[in-house]
Amino acid sequence: MDAESPDSTRIESAAKALRRGELVAFPTETVYGLGANALDAEAVARIYEAKDRPAFNPIIVHVADTAAARTLVTEWPEAAVSLAERFWPGPLTLVLPKRDSIPNLVTAGGSTVGIRVPAHPVALALLRAVGVPIAAPSANCSTAVSPTTAAHVLKGLDGRIAMVIDGGPTSGGIESTVLDLSVSPPRLLRPGLISRDQIELIIGLTGRTMIDSADGSPVPSPGLMRRHYAPRAKVELIEGHEFERALELQVRDNKNGWMPIDAEIETDNQSLFIKSMPGDPQRYAAQLYSTLHTLDEAGVDRIVIQLPPNTPEWLAVRDRLRRAASEN
Ligand code: TXA
Ligand code: MG
Repeated sequence: MDAESPDSTRIESAAKALRRGELVAFPTETVYGLGANALDAEAVARIYEAKDRPAFNPIIVHVADTAAARTLVTEWPEAAVSLAERFWPGPLTLVLPKRDSIPNLVTAGGSTVGIRVPAHPVALALLRAVGVPIAAPSANCSTAVSPTTAAHVLKGLDGRIAMVIDGGPTSGGIESTVLDLSVSPPRLLRPGLISRDQIELIIGLTGRTMIDSADGSPVPSPGLMRRHYAPRAKVELIEGHEFERALELQVRDNKNGWMPIDAEIETDNQSLFIKSMPGDPQRYAAQLYSTLHTLDEAGVDRIVIQLPPNTPEWLAVRDRLRRAASEN
């Protein structure tokens, strides 16, 4: 359906399916979500089943606006007021103490809930039509590459869900930033399209948001496994300045995918698939998962990826690349 002006008849039939407790995949500005009525524990249980998701991994709840978000939590601190005002609708998930109305299954037994207002006309139309909060993890099997098109959703979940609303490719390309506001100072649980600097500028805590240790990698959220967002092929990461030298060693008999940054590498090798990636973090993020899906579909055995620089604006992309390369 047209992403800019969603067809109301089809939105209504998706809303009906959700009210019946069925699973509906839908586009957001980050990746496609696999939605269920967040207030219906049985419906939420179907999400875990369809994705083979471990029960300790909490699910993000999507709402149409800030007012709806506030009804789901017991606190709405100053930081939430200003962050929601600045970044919602948008790719920022806020973690806050939950109300009893949220089933424990949504939060994997925890006392906090992650909430966001997605910036996508189809997602917002669906939320308004259904009138209940929608619990939605990314619409892929657990640990696989997240879907940025309806075709990616079907590749992983066809036969396991009631429907997918096709709103074309998503623009953001990687998942939302997850920020825990139930602790002080706040803690970045997953880097994403909204950076730590952007957050700190709004809440006035320069340099104090907790992320772990020297390399800037985040404290793991519950359930955020190291191996995640991973293609079928084996992924090898190479620091930027090593890339060209390392490539000389790579051409073997197997089918290889290469993902250099801003490079024009020519080849007549039939078993080599080269996908040059943008040198800009937002544009890189937008293409990352679709490129991994494409290389998997080409049947490569291995994907060699040039790492972008270890600087704050690349934090989220480097995080997803590390997880894609992780073997456990
Ligand atoms: O962009 C996104 O966030 C997408 C779209 C569909 O909204 N959703 C998404 O959900 O990526 P999912 O389930 O794949 O990732 C949710 C992650 C969990 O792995 C967990 O780390 C964190 O968010 N999370 C959710 N609720 C939490 C909570 N109550 N406490 C701590 N972390 C939480
Ligand atoms: Mg996911």
